[in-house]
Amino acid sequence: MSDIKNDLVLRALKGETTERVPVWMMRQAGRYLPDYMKLKAKYDFFTRVQTPELATQITLQPIEQVGVDAAIIFSDILVIPQAMGLEVLMEEGKGPSLPEVIKNAKDVDALRTDGVEKLRYVCDALTLTKRELNGRVPLIGFAGAPWTILCYMVEGKGSKTWDKAKQFAYTEPVLTHRLLQKITDITIRYLEAQVIAGADIVQVFDSWAGSLSPEDFKTYAQPYLLQIADAVAPHGPVILFPKGTWHAIEDLSKSSASGIGIDWTITPQQARAFAGDRVTLQGNFDPSKLLAPIPQIKKWVKEMIDGFGTQRYIANLGHGITPNVPVDHAKAFVDAVKEYSCE
Ligand code: CP3
Repeated sequence: MSDIKNDLVLRALKGETTERVPVWMMRQAGRYLPDYMKLKAKYDFFTRVQTPELATQITLQPIEQVGVDAAIIFSDILVIPQAMGLEVLMEEGKGPSLPEVIKNAKDVDALRTDGVEKLRYVCDALTLTKRELNGRVPLIGFAGAPWTILCYMVEGKGSKTWDKAKQFAYTEPVLTHRLLQKITDITIRYLEAQVIAGADIVQVFDSWAGSLSPEDFKTYAQPYLLQIADAVAPHGPVILFPKGTWHAIEDLSKSSASGIGIDWTITPQQARAFAGDRVTLQGNFDPSKLLAPIPQIKKWVKEMIDGFGTQRYIANLGHGITPNVPVDHAKAFVDAVKEYSCE
């Protein structure tokens, strides 16, 4: 189909046969890479994100240095709150913060849904990266899922429990749905723009979906994930990653998404039993396991692939790689996946 030389990830998502298991890592462009740290020392976070040449350079680093089978554009999920009119700060060692949080109907009404144009720089970075990749591997675009974005908008910063976001949902359910719908509307336009700009695949990160009970996930997260998948799938393959929601795998496997991200709170066998062969599974190596000795990493990778099977499967981590992972351990993970099918 494509002008992409290594299109294993794309073929796995389509349910086509792959001669070996494809592999990439969530947050693969980041602080465990010394070359990333050099750019981080020179430019602040949003300068790196908003300068297409820098975003492209960072996106390409793990392709060249770790050998992954897909690139994911260097950006952040919090560019959507920015485009909707909220200020987002990224302070060293503190993570993201939003000085003005969403508290009431007036705040929700003030949010813009026509601000995708403000994210022109992401599209420019995708177009430039696509050109620089020159067909080596597919390019993944992404956005945060509505529930996860709401979490940050209401809490103003990261949280272990997201209790304020949940309090908002439980006390203002109608307003919560209004906010989730606004985020959904702009996210759909944003992901469509990313595909037009050069993204071959898009992934939706619902990092904090697991903070919700199965019932609340069905109320506040799943309908919006499905809306996004239905709207974007005609343009390009969609991967949904609602972390911590093993209970939803079966439902999501029947959606228009091509792939579902799996975390390590479920075995590969159990995840496959829920999903069948209806959808491509992606995951689920515990990123902390990359801190183990390399022979142990390789043994666990083999067991993971044995569990998922080699088809309709993309090897990945169950969440983002952490900054303390040695590069040679990340590379050992990727190599172990590549070696599997050669056995
Ligand atoms: O995957 C990639 O390589 C692409 C880059 C990417 C970043 N953020 C860059 C980044 C992606 C896909 C994201 C997504 C993102 N951002 C998520 C969803 C994925 C996940 O891990 O759950 C979330 C929840 C965010 C919000 C966010 N951005 C947090 C919580 C933080 C601070 C925590 C941390 O990891 O430091 C960020 C900052 C951020 N985004 C960094 C990077 C590389 C680290 C800061 C820096 O390098 O200066």
